[in-house]
Amino acid sequence: MKQINSYIDSVFTNQDDLLEEVIASIKENGMPSISVSPSSGKLLSLLVAITRAENVLEIGALGGYSGICLARGFGKNGKLTSLELEEKYARLAQSNLAKAGFGDQVSYLTGPALESLEKLAADGNRFDFFFIDADKGNYENYLNACVKMAEPGALIVTDNVLAGGSVADDSIKSKRYTESMRKFNETVANHPQLESVLIPVGDGMTLSRVKK
Ligand SMILES: C[S@@+](CC[C@H](N)C(=O)[O-])C[C@H]1O[C@@H](n2cnc3c(N)ncnc32)[C@H](O)[C@@H]1O
Repeated sequence: MKQINSYIDSVFTNQDDLLEEVIASIKENGMPSISVSPSSGKLLSLLVAITRAENVLEIGALGGYSGICLARGFGKNGKLTSLELEEKYARLAQSNLAKAGFGDQVSYLTGPALESLEKLAADGNRFDFFFIDADKGNYENYLNACVKMAEPGALIVTDNVLAGGSVADDSIKSKRYTESMRKFNETVANHPQLESVLIPVGDGMTLSRVKK
């Protein structure tokens, strides 16, 4: 899996100084190096652009790497709402999105995402694109919250669904969340309101279209 991903990254992504700076800022701030891979980021930009989504919700901001990729997909005509547990992370993400030229198009809600999701739903918010990339144990809760706030035909993208390949290959050491990802993948695949497939880019992303 690593070799295939390195190959895809090397052929399909170019040197990106801005995203390199984001990665460096995450390290400098002592935060974990767990942003999406370059190809996963590019896939996010492409998906937002292809779906022409303009109202995007992200769960799990870290330092803003995936946020910038999502925003690049909608360009000048879109808005990103991003949920992040840690105030410090959200502050760095906000400053990185500003450096990327999207400072006025992003808003961060800090605290546990489940609480922010409840608030967004209670306020009647709707979104046409979702990116789930936070604590794995809550993925199913996040998925259900996203389905409730989805415009018909919206796309829900979920990261890390291959758990380093361990969901499919017993010879790969299990991760803490291998079993919950297997369960999540089954749920997504059989969800009555979703049409889904798993793309093995990065650590694996499921794409789920909310049925109209
Ligand atoms: C894998 S990182 C996100 C990476 C980011 N999407 C990127 O690629 O640039 C996961 C993030 O989820 C956040 N997180 C963890 N638990 C959370 C929760 N309960 N509510 C909101 N955010 C949470 C972490 O603080 C971390 O920043």
